[in-house]
Amino acid sequence: MSSMKPILDLKIPFEWSERRPVLLEKCLYLPTHCQGAVHFGPKIWRQDGVFANPELPLAVEFCSGNGEWIAKVALSFPHLNWIAVEKDFYRAKKIWLRLFRYSISNLFVVCGEALAFSREYLEAQSLQEAWVNFPDPWPKRSHAKHRLIQKPFADEVRRTLQKGASITLVTDDERYSRQMSETFLSWKSGFAPEPFARELPGYGTSYFHTLWQEKQKQIRYHRYLYD
Ligand SMILES: C[S@@+](CC[C@H](N)C(=O)[O-])C[C@H]1O[C@@H](n2cnc3c(N)ncnc32)[C@H](O)[C@@H]1O
Repeated sequence: MSSMKPILDLKIPFEWSERRPVLLEKCLYLPTHCQGAVHFGPKIWRQDGVFANPELPLAVEFCSGNGEWIAKVALSFPHLNWIAVEKDFYRAKKIWLRLFRYSISNLFVVCGEALAFSREYLEAQSLQEAWVNFPDPWPKRSHAKHRLIQKPFADEVRRTLQKGASITLVTDDERYSRQMSETFLSWKSGFAPEPFARELPGYGTSYFHTLWQEKQKQIRYHRYLYD
């Protein structure tokens, strides 16, 4: 897209003590620990400068890491507006740099926590697709409570997906795979009667997808349909 400016840096325009949600160019920064903050809300998706074509349906990837997967997918599926949600600022910045490097006009970056973002910024039944690729598995039993894929997340997915839409969850971790199946037990599985697929044609590649494939780990693709 020729109108996109070659901006080279993403900076947060305030000190930590003044933290608040801020809408930067092609990036929403949602800091943690700012309860009571005023949010822009779901109207931002129709705002000038967010997406080149605000009329397109929305798709989200939570836990985007460095954005390798979503950057390619956004280019391959230009009929959707893609939102990358990544809580780590330095990884979010990598996604943002890709967005400008490859002029991806249907991609937007959110630097923020997945659940907090969804609750404040996604309207009910607004998503045509949702993806979580290799969310942190938190393998220690005492840390498992930090996993994203739990009931509050599934409740948010149910609220935000359009009827007939799906969420795809991808992991190499056997225990997390079981937890995904249990969390979405009441949903229709896209791969029934199997709980997950071992291959997903056209999936693309992400940093962790490549890493685990090289180590010959079994990748598990779960898909749940909201019908
Ligand atoms: C294992 S990496 C996977 C990155 C990428 N999806 C891939 O496949 O290469 C998990 C990423 O999820 C991010 N993350 C973990 N929990 C998150 C949450 N609750 N909200 C947003 N991002 C999260 C981490 O910061 C990390 O970058």
